[in-house]
Amino acid sequence: MTDQIAFNDDYDSNTSGNPEFHQLFNQQMSRRDLIKKTAGGAVALTLAASLTGCSDNDEESTPPSIPATPNEPDLTATPKSLTFKPVDKNTLEQFTVAEGYDFKVLHAVGDPLHPSLPVWDENNIPSGVSYERRVGDNHDGMTFFGLNTSKQNFDATVSDTGLLVMNHEYLQRDDLHPRGSIFDQDDITEDEVIREVNSHGVSIVAINKNPETQEITVDLNSPFNRRITAATEMEYRGPVRGNTLVQTAFSPDGTKTRGTINNCGNGYTPWGTYLTTEENFNQYLARQKDTEGGDVRDANTEHALKRYKVNNGARGYNWQSIRNPQIFTPDYFSRWNTVISGASEQEDYRNSINTFGWIVEIDPFDNRSMPVKRTALGRFAHEDCRASRAIAGKPLAFYMGDDSQGEYIYKFVSDTPWNPTDVNGGYAAGDKYMNNGKLYVAQFDFNEATGEAKGQWLELSLSNPKIANYAEYKFADRADILVNARIAADAAGATKMDRPEWVAVNPHNGEVYVTLTNNSQRGSAHVIDAANPRQYSDDDDTTNRLRGNINGHVIRFRETGDDVTATSFTWDIFLFGAEADSIPGVNLSGLTDANDFSSPDGMWFDDRGVLWLQTDDGAYTDTTNCMMLAALPGSVSDGSVQTATAGTGTQKTPMGAKLDDSKLRRFLVGPAGCEITGVTMTPDYKAIFVNVQHPGGTWPANQAEHLISTGRAYSRPRSATVVITRKDGGVIAGESLETPKA
Ligand code: FEO
Ligand code: CA
Ligand code: CA
Repeated sequence: MTDQIAFNDDYDSNTSGNPEFHQLFNQQMSRRDLIKKTAGGAVALTLAASLTGCSDNDEESTPPSIPATPNEPDLTATPKSLTFKPVDKNTLEQFTVAEGYDFKVLHAVGDPLHPSLPVWDENNIPSGVSYERRVGDNHDGMTFFGLNTSKQNFDATVSDTGLLVMNHEYLQRDDLHPRGSIFDQDDITEDEVIREVNSHGVSIVAINKNPETQEITVDLNSPFNRRITAATEMEYRGPVRGNTLVQTAFSPDGTKTRGTINNCGNGYTPWGTYLTTEENFNQYLARQKDTEGGDVRDANTEHALKRYKVNNGARGYNWQSIRNPQIFTPDYFSRWNTVISGASEQEDYRNSINTFGWIVEIDPFDNRSMPVKRTALGRFAHEDCRASRAIAGKPLAFYMGDDSQGEYIYKFVSDTPWNPTDVNGGYAAGDKYMNNGKLYVAQFDFNEATGEAKGQWLELSLSNPKIANYAEYKFADRADILVNARIAADAAGATKMDRPEWVAVNPHNGEVYVTLTNNSQRGSAHVIDAANPRQYSDDDDTTNRLRGNINGHVIRFRETGDDVTATSFTWDIFLFGAEADSIPGVNLSGLTDANDFSSPDGMWFDDRGVLWLQTDDGAYTDTTNCMMLAALPGSVSDGSVQTATAGTGTQKTPMGAKLDDSKLRRFLVGPAGCEITGVTMTPDYKAIFVNVQHPGGTWPANQAEHLISTGRAYSRPRSATVVITRKDGGVIAGESLETPKA
């Protein structure tokens, strides 16, 4: 049953900033949603929300993450080895996947998420406002949530109906707008700002999977299809809610804000909600007073602004430059200027910078409530957020990276132990597990004499004298520590890492993996240590210039006593990125042509314990585009101490057991120019989804036979979601468990 409201193509493609369009668009959307709600969709949602804390799930404990026991236990156990044929490194303008597998492009930036919107057309790019219901740009982190169609809520065992939730990190500005590559932010228009604001955030996309063919389709008629953008209203919960540091003219009491931005890695909760992250939020904000430069702040605030990289005079994306808007009110634009312009923080947007940098919880099954910024998890350039295994009666931990050179790894530990009856508890469950707890930062130590690799979790609290008495910044209270978590971590003495990106939790043993993508300053601005041990030059670089840790590595740790509340851990380096022909002190993991890679970034353990590893690389792209590999890891301390090349010297480092290419191999390679990021599967392991972010050339149009995505006459490259299935409908990466075909 659909209520097809005819959208006028002229309106949808109107790029003039016509105010009537916005009104018409929203009137039509609300009419449709109302009809949908009374037709059953959100009625069921209301019921689901009222079940908070008393769901009908009576299991003793829930599975470690979303997928639950599949139907074919023999074929969905942990694979013994990886036997698909590894994909060759290549620099094609094509997406290539292992033999025996096929892929489809599910949707791309600009595709409609409402049945009445016209298809995306390169020669008639839709208006900025219509991107409130179109797929955003630069797809990133992503999670599949099984949809129980009778209860209209989350079901971790369902594979054939679901909500695919994904981030849209940033923009390809030269490909997004009607004027294309002549885009210039100096003269950005209102329509362009609105398209840019709407192309950020999160898409919730209802999909169906044919249980016979495994074919995936998008259900455009689903009431769950939704966009959350950089303008969507959301609220703060946790210790920072109401604090002076987040008060603005929009929310003088500091309880609400608008939008989420630069959504990079992701996470999901055991109760069935999505976690999006706010990474390089500083890039969007101006700090301009008219054209005179910036403002003057007290020394404490200035230290905080510097630490979060907001320079006086910054221009951001120039969204604040729209002074006489026709569609939205002026503060839709002016709030992107984090400068003093009023008498107090309640009368201006000086605090805009503090409204971003959070973990945001989104309940994909609840389109009535506002998303929630979970302030207890701290504010920094959040890359990823992964929950520990959900064990009944034990607290939950959330592990997080701050992706910038020399930044830190954090964990938040809930005060409240996990109760499996909270599945489908929505934001109320979020309040229960994410409002109260302790925030820690990691410090890595290595004793070369004994070979012992230990680490400490340093609590970010005023009870730590190093934080309470920090000379560089005076913390007012706990909320201040959370808003300025980076500064508290500086004070505590955390270990500066090589850009912490994604985090993955091994479902078999709870060990935590963190990608450290690269760091050109390792060995110079950041001293070599055992956890970040390499500094070297690229074999192909004739200048022989030491560029730090060029290819990145993956570190992992195990909490003492396998207890997420532990304040110490053991660790090793799981894997070093390298070119296969690098010197041994660089290619410490012994990578071969079947599995060499550079700049690990996206990463996720599926519930069988297969680790999926993705790259966002600029160092090895003369040889290969970015890729995704599959791995079957061992455990912390299963290897030995190695000697890494560290500039003109060496550094000892504890490394995990080397994996041969039956335990680590390349599953796919993306088209030239792209980053491969975001990975999730249906719980039957028969469909795996990845995102292709900022491809080059004309991809995906040049692989037209793989398009499900619609769109007219295009040559512009488009970020897209890809779904991969086996041609024989089998379990992905599960070949080693099958009887060989005669
Ligand atoms: Fe958004 Fe660190 O990549
Ligand atoms: Ca090279
Ligand atoms: Ca990333």
